[in-house]
Amino acid sequence: MEAVSPATVDWDEMTDTILEVENLKTYFFIEQGIVRAVDGVSFTLQAGKTLGIVGESGCGKSVTSRTIMRLLSPSLARIVDGSILYYPVKGEPIDLAQLDPFGEQIRDIRGNEIAMIFQEPMTSLNPVYSVGHQIMEAILLHQEVTKEEARKQAVEMLRLVGIPLPEQRVDQYPHQFSGGMRQRAMIAMALSCNPRILIADEPTTALDVTIEAQILDLIQQIQADSEMALIMITHDLNVIGEVADHVIVMYLGQVVESAPVDEIFDAPKHPYTQGLLNSLPMIGREERLEPITGSVPGPHERPQGCAFAPRCPHVMNRCRLEEPPSLIAGEFSTVACWLYDEQTEVVYAPG
Ligand SMILES: Nc1ncnc2c1ncn2[C@@H]1O[C@H](COP(=O)(O)OP(=O)(O)OP(=O)(O)O)[C@@H](O)[C@H]1O
Ligand SMILES: [Mg+2]
Repeated sequence: MEAVSPATVDWDEMTDTILEVENLKTYFFIEQGIVRAVDGVSFTLQAGKTLGIVGESGCGKSVTSRTIMRLLSPSLARIVDGSILYYPVKGEPIDLAQLDPFGEQIRDIRGNEIAMIFQEPMTSLNPVYSVGHQIMEAILLHQEVTKEEARKQAVEMLRLVGIPLPEQRVDQYPHQFSGGMRQRAMIAMALSCNPRILIADEPTTALDVTIEAQILDLIQQIQADSEMALIMITHDLNVIGEVADHVIVMYLGQVVESAPVDEIFDAPKHPYTQGLLNSLPMIGREERLEPITGSVPGPHERPQGCAFAPRCPHVMNRCRLEEPPSLIAGEFSTVACWLYDEQTEVVYAPG
């Protein structure tokens, strides 16, 4: 085999794609009409890397993650288009969008290869078993260890996520835990599975900042050791800045900007991303810059043209008429905004 010097290795080529979401559309069909909760979302996730998903409430972050996990009831929500390619350790990629949501294949992947930390902790803790029992189950399923060893690891995991007196807490039931402790127990359980992908939906919002920092450190430590890929969903841009490699910004079910984390913070392109950043209190910055005005329209009030147009400080006529496609904005970035289309007459200098 030919020797390759590090200088000639394209490291980006060497990172392994583990999940590839393409034009995903998940709609709810309810009495009041169709809710286009996820409306053409695309992104790629690499082993060992972190993708951040940000956007205001109702923009489709949770529905995106529940669609990937195939946790939405088909009687309520349907994947109407797109694919979710999961690359297993061996064999061909599997399109999760095509799987039977109740079938064996997705059950094998869910909780094992792809684990999720939910916004509401009670969704994944079983009230009839002790917390320790549930963490031990996850450990025993994935490692060849004795029950005694699994219990030790469960106690250790509870300690790592900041549960006080873990030796005693391990035998308690979810209802004996406070909200914040349940959240931490769920994080412990998800991490005990040794997943290849962890989807964390607002994992630390209910927690105080010290515990939050501790948990983010723990997740990053595990990532470094195991090449676990992470999808971090949060309102908190500070968390994104700390953990993400790449960020997608969602608005009303669509990705309006996708870029490496540094570009998002240093040179945000979409006016919505700029608004989100401007609303962020920052040390050393006296006044808040132009935060976003108005609120997210309801799911049945989707504006014509660009969905963000009614709130956009740079809105142009074109924006109210035509929906902007995702334009290539850099080597690894896209932006869905007419300001960046060469055919648009206004020349706009961001910042
Ligand atoms: N079960 C449901 N039936 C009908 N519509 C739903 C259902 N669940 C979610 N939606 C709608 O789908 C859209 C996306 O919701 P989603 O929960 O993904 O938002 P989110 O970005 O996670 O918000 P948050 O930041 O508040 O968690 C919203 O308009 C919401 O009202
Ligand atoms: Mg949510």
